[in-house]
Amino acid sequence: MDAKGAGVPLTWLTCYDFSFARALNSTELDLILVGDSGGMVSLGYSDTTPVTMNEMIHLSGAVRRGAPDKFIVGDMPKGSYEASNQDAINNAMRFIKETGCDAIKLEGGLRMASRVQAIVDSGIPVIGHIGLTPQSATAQGGYRVIGRGADESAQLMRDAESLQSAGAFGVLLEALPPSLSMKITSSFNFLVFGIGAGSHVDGQLLILYDLLGLYPNFRPKFAKCFVPQVSQIFSKSLPGSQELPDFGRNTRADGLYEITRLAVELFISETKSGLFPDENYSYKDN
Ligand code: KIV
Repeated sequence: MDAKGAGVPLTWLTCYDFSFARALNSTELDLILVGDSGGMVSLGYSDTTPVTMNEMIHLSGAVRRGAPDKFIVGDMPKGSYEASNQDAINNAMRFIKETGCDAIKLEGGLRMASRVQAIVDSGIPVIGHIGLTPQSATAQGGYRVIGRGADESAQLMRDAESLQSAGAFGVLLEALPPSLSMKITSSFNFLVFGIGAGSHVDGQLLILYDLLGLYPNFRPKFAKCFVPQVSQIFSKSLPGSQELPDFGRNTRADGLYEITRLAVELFISETKSGLFPDENYSYKDN
């Protein structure tokens, strides 16, 4: 996987179960993240703090079975890597051995560099995650854009540098001013992914449940729901009689599976063509 400098961003979505994973597997999506956000959207926790390794293993195994062809990243939950390098290696190894994930993601930059290096040295590919890091959002002063002032932006540059030096193959930037993401993307050789970080990145991540409008509790500015745009394509794509009860019945392309596929394909084409995210789905620089 190498999109650095190619000008066409990679596309990445979260997923937490078998059926949605099957829908994603049938598209051209590049990567899947089994995020600990699954603790909120699938398990009903109010934030990601309570999520355990066992729960992540359970969700990730289901996603692997539904998406055998995709590159899947398992998200290390809070408490699974902070205490020691050995803990971090053991839990990362569980993702690989027990679920078939291809790589893991963990939150933190410089402060987590030795964990990243230890996991990479054990043979497991790692993506870092900096900017807004939901597992430590309270310590960061809540859910907010990170990196607007000189101190925070300099710290983010140091964080990215330390992750690249530790051997991570990429970093995810969450909730950053677009100009800072662009600077990070052009300053480093590893892959720079963004969520709420503007369009000048090597890859774009979205939460599947935001893309589908399945989590009405909260919707950040950068999260685009693609369902309104696909509703017309969906009704036109249904083969069969014009009588509603028979729409798509024979092909079983009459429901949420097909709507998901169409919405994901739209996310992919808008991202690859540079239409998403535009300024309506990006934070301002100041
Ligand atoms: O768990 C997750 O889905 C994530 C995203 C919020 C980036 O880590």
